[in-house]
Amino acid sequence: MSVDVINLRSNIKDYIAIFPEDNSFLQEINQEQHKIFIIDQTVDKLYASKCLNVLGNAEKIIFKVHETSKNIHGVIALYDQVMKFQPKKNTTIISIGGGIMQDLSGYVASTLFRGVKWIFIPTTLLAQADSCIGAKTSLNYKKYKNLMGTFYPPNTIYIYPNFLQTQNETDYYSGVGEVAKLLLMGGEDATQFFLKHLAEIKKRDFLVLSQIIKKCLLIKKAYIEEDEFDMGKRNMLNFGHCFGHALETATNFIVPHGQAVVLGIILANYIAEKRNVLSAKKREYLQKNILTEILKIDINSIKINLTEVIAAMKKDKKRIGQDLPLIMLNDNYEMLKINDLKETEVEYALKKIGWL
Ligand SMILES: NC(=O)c1ccc[n+]([C@@H]2O[C@H](COP(=O)([O-])OP(=O)(O)OC[C@H]3O[C@@H](n4cnc5c(N)ncnc54)[C@H](O)[C@@H]3O)[C@@H](O)[C@H]2O)c1
Ligand SMILES: [Zn+2]
Repeated sequence: MSVDVINLRSNIKDYIAIFPEDNSFLQEINQEQHKIFIIDQTVDKLYASKCLNVLGNAEKIIFKVHETSKNIHGVIALYDQVMKFQPKKNTTIISIGGGIMQDLSGYVASTLFRGVKWIFIPTTLLAQADSCIGAKTSLNYKKYKNLMGTFYPPNTIYIYPNFLQTQNETDYYSGVGEVAKLLLMGGEDATQFFLKHLAEIKKRDFLVLSQIIKKCLLIKKAYIEEDEFDMGKRNMLNFGHCFGHALETATNFIVPHGQAVVLGIILANYIAEKRNVLSAKKREYLQKNILTEILKIDINSIKINLTEVIAAMKKDKKRIGQDLPLIMLNDNYEMLKINDLKETEVEYALKKIGWL
């Protein structure tokens, strides 16, 4: 089995992301002693007779995930099942699923005996290309998203893009939005690579996706290794998210997260153009060739209210001072953060996109 590996440095423990060529890695993992599998119910249904059958009668928890149970109650439900297998300090948790499975099982792995060995197999594009590295486990608290959490990386991550074949369009394109964000942050070469391979990304070509995911993780690695605990530089990964989170809130979450990020980038680019940070030519080029190409929602069908967007932006966790924060891209694909975004500029950008 030939593999590619990305090594990740962490203050908690160093870890690796492995890109296996075929699914024989599952047999290898199954050799692990004292293991408990935690598998997303949808993934189990889709793959039980395809590749997960190699796990045989290993100890397994099939868990139904939903954003509304990504909280402390979901953790307790999962603990109840884990405890039935009488785990010990040397137990390995092996979880298989998307970002919700990562957050829930990662929280369990990080708190069970104050941390047990954890192997994660992400099965969504968002989890493979973005969330699987960075060591954050997050739980929602009431209506506050990702308010609770721990820093705890898996020991090993196995990235196998064949799983992405079965993702529905909405979830897949939500992942594509985060991929676009990271590749724009990666500069001209990464952006051109994305453009060149857009047709294959849409077809979910295994080899192209492997390369794209690798690029995304290497771009994110530079930010998280320098600022693992999110005190400064890592905040730039919120590109597209200042407006994006506000749009999710203001539309009652009908816009999928990664698609809200794409809209957030379009809006941030309008502000960057107005502030002479990004040329009109570059903004138009990115919008036409990348951003609208991967936007799968009809923006005319979405009702946006300026007051609600501003109110949501004011609740940004990273906000300091009276005005609003915004992360922007410049002509050289460098990231800049401003903390003085005015409400009139928010209105300007929403008008530009055609909402007001
Ligand atoms: N911890 C972090 O650093 C971090 C970063 C970004 C996002 N997140 C979290 O990730 C979550 C979103 O994750 P996601 O986009 O991966 O979605 P998800 O985990 O909600 O999965 C989406 C849906 O796809 C199903 N699914 C998973 N894999 C599949 C496959 N291969 N084929 C078919 N269906 C499949 C799931 O059962 C679910 O119904 C959010 O809760 C978000 O807050 C965490
Ligand atoms: Zn995001």
